[in-house]
Amino acid sequence: MSKRRLLSGMQPTGLLHLCNLEGALSNWVKLQDDYEAYFFIADWHSLTTLYDSPDLIAQYAYQVAIDFLAAGLDPDQCAIFVQSAVKEHAELHLLLSMVTPVSWLERVPTYKEKQAALKAAGSSYGLLGYPVLQAADILAYKADVVPVGRDQLPHLELAREIGRRFNYLFGDIFPDCKALMTQFPQIPGMDGRKMSKSHSNAIYIADSPEQTQQKIRLMFTDPNKLHRHDKGHKEGCAVYEMLNIFGRADLHEDCEAGRAGCLETKDRLADLINERLAPIRDRRRELLAKPSVVEDILADGAHKARIAAQQTLAEVREAMGVR
Ligand code: TRP
Repeated sequence: MSKRRLLSGMQPTGLLHLCNLEGALSNWVKLQDDYEAYFFIADWHSLTTLYDSPDLIAQYAYQVAIDFLAAGLDPDQCAIFVQSAVKEHAELHLLLSMVTPVSWLERVPTYKEKQAALKAAGSSYGLLGYPVLQAADILAYKADVVPVGRDQLPHLELAREIGRRFNYLFGDIFPDCKALMTQFPQIPGMDGRKMSKSHSNAIYIADSPEQTQQKIRLMFTDPNKLHRHDKGHKEGCAVYEMLNIFGRADLHEDCEAGRAGCLETKDRLADLINERLAPIRDRRRELLAKPSVVEDILADGAHKARIAAQQTLAEVREAMGVR
């Protein structure tokens, strides 16, 4: 029995943070053995917003590849590659764009948000087509399963609709893909809001232990706890929330009893996080020192991906009667 196919991707718009790691990457690492898995860095997607800084996208793409590997994605188990190295994504995107009604794309919630954010330059044709490119990413591999966060569900639904419409017009080529929802509580950033690069409140895999400690010392806590011996409360305390997510709510008990000050509890949290990240950071450092190893892994991943995508594209061209 051949394994079912799984695919997912991340945009290289920055370094990966704790929320990317716990919410997605750790999950991918667990899934890579059970599926024929493809994990890629969606650099073309990042051009929809960072079109004026392609060099920045390339730098981040490399860093994200290192984050993937450091977190435990195994190039012997799965294909790890950069989207733009596999041109079949672009060809399938073009062909799918012909059968995708514009009205479907205009309804996508992320389109409306990003369009508003990009107001100065106006919004591009590429931004409107973002979900078509994502559909091409998924359908090029006939992926059965796509692990994503909740925010990606509208994109996934659209990919399925595009696949179905293609099948209806040209015959059964694409399987119905299924979202594999990642169940993980939202990690708060230093300010208590959801951790996100755009909020500047993130703890990065690539941060040093000292940077991590500094950031955690800035975290919002119970505003009514002014002194060490005041009894702290869980409600509204981002440090408690984080300890709880990492399964160590007990480390907050001294605070609640008035036996520990916020700084002490924060340093306990920093130690906990630094401990968890230590092996990943070690691997990260090793990989950074060996750029040719990373390049080889990405080339090999692109090669594996290309073989699968070329097979699908041959079927697609044949079904459509195009060259
Ligand atoms: N849009 C996804 C994100 O921003 C990234 C992505 C691109 C993706 N293509 C994909 C995710 C295909 C899953 C499958 O997170």
